[in-house]
Amino acid sequence: MSQTPLSRYFNFQPLIEQMQRDSQLSVWAQQLPAQLDEHFFLRKHGDLQRWLNALDAMPNFAPSEVHLDRSVVTVAPPQTWTNEQIARMHDALQGLHPWRKGPFDIGGVFVDTEWRSDWKWDRVLPGLTPLAGRKVLDIGCGSGYHCWRMAGEGAEMVVGVEPSLLFLCQFAALQRYIKAPHVNILPLGVQHIPANLKGFDTTFSMGVFYHRSAPFEHLSQLKDTLREGGELVLETLVIEGGLGEVLVPEGRYASMNNVWFLPSCLTLESWLKKLGFNDIQLLNVDKTSLLEQRTTEWMRFFSLANYLDPDDASKTIEGHPAPLRATFVAKA
Ligand SMILES: C[S@@+](CC[C@H](N)C(=O)[O-])C[C@H]1O[C@@H](n2cnc3c(N)ncnc32)[C@H](O)[C@@H]1O
Repeated sequence: MSQTPLSRYFNFQPLIEQMQRDSQLSVWAQQLPAQLDEHFFLRKHGDLQRWLNALDAMPNFAPSEVHLDRSVVTVAPPQTWTNEQIARMHDALQGLHPWRKGPFDIGGVFVDTEWRSDWKWDRVLPGLTPLAGRKVLDIGCGSGYHCWRMAGEGAEMVVGVEPSLLFLCQFAALQRYIKAPHVNILPLGVQHIPANLKGFDTTFSMGVFYHRSAPFEHLSQLKDTLREGGELVLETLVIEGGLGEVLVPEGRYASMNNVWFLPSCLTLESWLKKLGFNDIQLLNVDKTSLLEQRTTEWMRFFSLANYLDPDDASKTIEGHPAPLRATFVAKA
């Protein structure tokens, strides 16, 4: 793997070595050095220097406490930490704006992210086969908030997959203090996971399905990542309606231009069946509230409130049904 300024904050060697020792994941370990060079170390990004400067500006400390099993993923500073150090940390973390998935407390700074991702976790966790001792894959993991929570549940190995370099830098902002070799995010897309891997006990696809233009291909890729009997956790936007109903927004959906398929729950269940998933369970269906996704000091751009019809919050500004999210679990 090439040495670049990113190598200061990202060391994938321990993960590659863990994967090499695993009979199923060793196939991916072989491909990773070339994938990481192409999609990360040698990739150009106009904002990268700003993000690296933000990471460089974060003060060093040994955490007095780390909490991965609480709503606010926390890396507490030493007792002797001063207000000046907190202010330095605040300014450095602001250099990684916008923070979308969280919340976090990093060195005494509360990062109130756009999303209360802990609410999603609270909805999902009770329906899962316990994660303790499992190898877990989180596709489209954003900043890695849920990866930390998976580690907090005792997962043996957590691998996130996320193409956004900013979100990788946000993950690095925590990892430099937590130093958890079994929790990693790969700067890749779902399309870079080798076919037929069959290496994970639990695979999460949360908030990704509706961004994929080929829904069956996505479900099939997810199944391919799982060992036989492994568990898929699929969380996505749905619509109310019967079997066969699906919304394919012609233009934007809640201002997003990359939203493809919003099936009804019955339709999505039938798609999972068609691809050979078993024991399919619908865990919950929830309307996204304006308190769960909102503009904050840490995400100063528009958010959900700006994307709903101001006269009728049951609709998006384009006239589609407002965001409704469902979670399914199913066995491969
Ligand atoms: C709506 S967010 C969901 C984040 C998190 N999983 C959650 O549920 O809160 C979708 C994420 O998928 C990522 N993404 C985009 N293209 C992707 C791809 N090809 N493969 C994997 N993830 C992708 C985005 O960068 C973004 O972080």
